[in-house]
Amino acid sequence: MKILGIETSCDETAAAIVDDKKSILSNYVLSQTEHEAFGGVVPEIAARAHLDHLDRLVQKALDDAKTDLHALDGIAVTSGPGLIGGVLVGVMMAKAIASVHKLPYFAINHLEGHALTPRLTEDNLEFPYLLLLVSGGHTQILIVKDIGDFEQLGTTIDDALGEAFDKTAKLLGLGYPGGPEVEKRALECLDLAHALERFPLPKPMVGRAGSDMSFSGLKTAVRRHIESLKDTERKDPAIQADICAAFQHTIGLVLKDRLKRAIEVFLNLYPQHKTPTLVISGGVAANAYIRTTLTTLTTRYNMHFAAPPMKLCSDNAVMIAWAGIERLKKNLISDINTLPRPRWPLTELKSKIEKENSV
Ligand code: KG4
Ligand code: ZN
Repeated sequence: MKILGIETSCDETAAAIVDDKKSILSNYVLSQTEHEAFGGVVPEIAARAHLDHLDRLVQKALDDAKTDLHALDGIAVTSGPGLIGGVLVGVMMAKAIASVHKLPYFAINHLEGHALTPRLTEDNLEFPYLLLLVSGGHTQILIVKDIGDFEQLGTTIDDALGEAFDKTAKLLGLGYPGGPEVEKRALECLDLAHALERFPLPKPMVGRAGSDMSFSGLKTAVRRHIESLKDTERKDPAIQADICAAFQHTIGLVLKDRLKRAIEVFLNLYPQHKTPTLVISGGVAANAYIRTTLTTLTTRYNMHFAAPPMKLCSDNAVMIAWAGIERLKKNLISDINTLPRPRWPLTELKSKIEKENSV
């Protein structure tokens, strides 16, 4: 059973083929560099770039996997949430291929793609598991109960975590996307205690009930620190390293506090779970400092920790193809007329499955 996955919801044009034995037969990701000059993704440019490259990438993915469209068992495509112009490019191509070749069509929720990736990359990750989903547009703590069945324990009440990384990088004049740049700079900090003393930062929501998060106050505090610097200081790599390290460390503290509460809820709900697992997924999951922080936290609770390999953390089509495989196994085939959605919360997937099953 093999499925072609297509991803075009943001600034990565991607095509991949995955089979039900968990083999990645091909994986192409083209990261659009056109947006760098703007310090963020420009939707119109993104949509045009997808249009320019997608057909070539799909062909390469087929060639690499030594297969062709006739031999596929389905087409899976990101149908939202995301920048709708880009999503439409992928969806129209996937619908055309599915119609011409009479293939099952899977309208995949991009976030579900991130959420299910660890079931592809881990040996035996069973439902339910606890998930921290952190990307450029989303920050959520969820219990993944089944395909399409998510319970949200916490979410950001303002900015997404990836966005906070991107903003910090932009204020320091580092490149885009900002997360990897901030992480790299933070590694150069020689004295974290000194950095935290010089650049004290708030820890939004820490100590509060529940698992909601907030990053806009933290972002503002970073901005104030940077604005208070002289021009030469702002460009000084040692000072940049201190700011990045203080920022990243504070994020670690916030995530630990918010997740502690979610872990306790999860363990109370599933006291008999043999291998309770915390999974991190989404672009920010590539951050090694955050991974290490969460590994320490899970060890304290005798929980497993799982994270996809770096290249499957940021946007890719492997995760979309895999979500298609998971759905094909359960015969959850989408209607070819499914409309793409710019906004599509994970918690809305379940009612859809129940409706389809009752028809
Ligand atoms: O999942 P993703 O590729 O795209 C969205 O669906 O948003 O996530 C992109 C986000 C960006 O904000 C980027 O700065 C962040 O993930 N990111 C990181 C790292 N690598 C990517 N954030 C922190 N540390 C990283 N190493
Ligand atoms: Zn994503």
